[in-house]
Amino acid sequence: MRLSFALGLLALLGTASTVNAEPETGRTPAENYKEYCALCHGDDRKGYLNDHAPSLVTETLFVNGPITPFMAISYGRPGTPMGPYLDEIGGPMTSDEIRELAGWLAVSAGIEPTAPNRDTLKPIEGDIEQGKRIYAAHCADCHGAKGEGGEGTALGNATMLAVTPDSFLKAAIERGREGTPMVSFADTLADDEINSVVAFLRSRASGWDVEDMSFDEPPDLDNIVVNPDGDAPEFDLVDSRYVMAEDLNAALEDGRRMILIDTRVPYFWAMAHIEGSFPIPYYSSGREIIAALPQDGTWIVAYCECPRAAADSAVTRLREMGYNNTAVLYEGYAGWSALGFPVKVGRIDPKKGLFRHPSAEKRTE
Ligand code: HEC
Ligand code: HEC
Repeated sequence: MRLSFALGLLALLGTASTVNAEPETGRTPAENYKEYCALCHGDDRKGYLNDHAPSLVTETLFVNGPITPFMAISYGRPGTPMGPYLDEIGGPMTSDEIRELAGWLAVSAGIEPTAPNRDTLKPIEGDIEQGKRIYAAHCADCHGAKGEGGEGTALGNATMLAVTPDSFLKAAIERGREGTPMVSFADTLADDEINSVVAFLRSRASGWDVEDMSFDEPPDLDNIVVNPDGDAPEFDLVDSRYVMAEDLNAALEDGRRMILIDTRVPYFWAMAHIEGSFPIPYYSSGREIIAALPQDGTWIVAYCECPRAAADSAVTRLREMGYNNTAVLYEGYAGWSALGFPVKVGRIDPKKGLFRHPSAEKRTE
């Protein structure tokens, strides 16, 4: 049996992997769809009724099951007509309702539920400069010179990139989206060229115009304090535990001293993270990082994508050990990104040291 990071991720996000057409909430997914989505995506879900809304019936939209659509519906694509539908960041639906809706969309599109593939969360390596040239020649006409969208979706959208794995982008390019203007590029571009354009798009996750095309490495344990010379932040915690994204961003902009812990699977840190954060996945023992924590009351803020479960358990453990200046980012990472706060893209070797998954030895390549 192969355990995969993807399974860990899906477990983390609740049961978005379960394709479930039976409503557990008051309204059926079909009713929610009609009320909130049909306006742009059409009663038939084929898209293009308004605002170039994409099709919701293509096979490659569900290449990872309903999970990526679930994230798109929850957090939206800020700056495009696709808003966030999750109640926590101002939308009208609960996470359960969106999970049901995403599952219903998959079933309605005739998608058979499949087990997540372990390659789902594997970074795709490529030549970023080559990808940039290919993008300008083959993609910019529809997706915009700066990925702002047009006839095609906004590929430079920071929130899209923050919640969309490379494998999903590659599938769309390689296989296309049937019945839409997005054709398959399998015959036009070689596999390594497709990889390069994906790597280029990923490199844009920190912003389309950033000059530096390199990826962050995780800070070493001697340098985990962000703004080491700054004053302590003065957080006004909700329920003595949660810091709101707006307050965290203000403290960071103000140069306040703190430690940021990212408790997601390492691939998610690589896709996009809060600058200066240290990835300490929820499944690791955390022993090394705890040993490296300063004992001087430095604030520690943990965040995850779930939006809080993994970060909550990290803070509970830290408080049990006497670290009381600890907080959880309320909106979670995806909420942070959807609210427009800055992010950085990175690279991590999941086979190394702290980031190694406990099941790594059991896997056969
Ligand atoms: C006001 C128009 C509008 C409404 C209403 C709307 N969408 Fe969208 N949706 C869009 C547009 C436009 C995009 C593409 C945005 C972009 O990335 O450029 C999009 C993108 C998406 C995507 C991502 C598709 C992909 O190709 O990755 C999904 C999934 C989605 N919408 C589902 C929904 C659902 C479900 C609802 C209702 C809860 C909804 N949308 C409501 C306009 C809308
Ligand atoms: C003729 C216009 C056109 C061209 C050229 C084009 N695309 Fe697209 N692309 C689209 C449209 C439209 C969609 C949304 C299709 C749908 O699902 O309804 C799309 C979807 C995508 C998606 C899925 C994104 C998402 O929001 O889920 C990716 C990734 C993508 N295109 C990448 C590319 C790349 C890379 C190129 C160049 C190699 C390219 N496209 C060229 C029109 C185009």
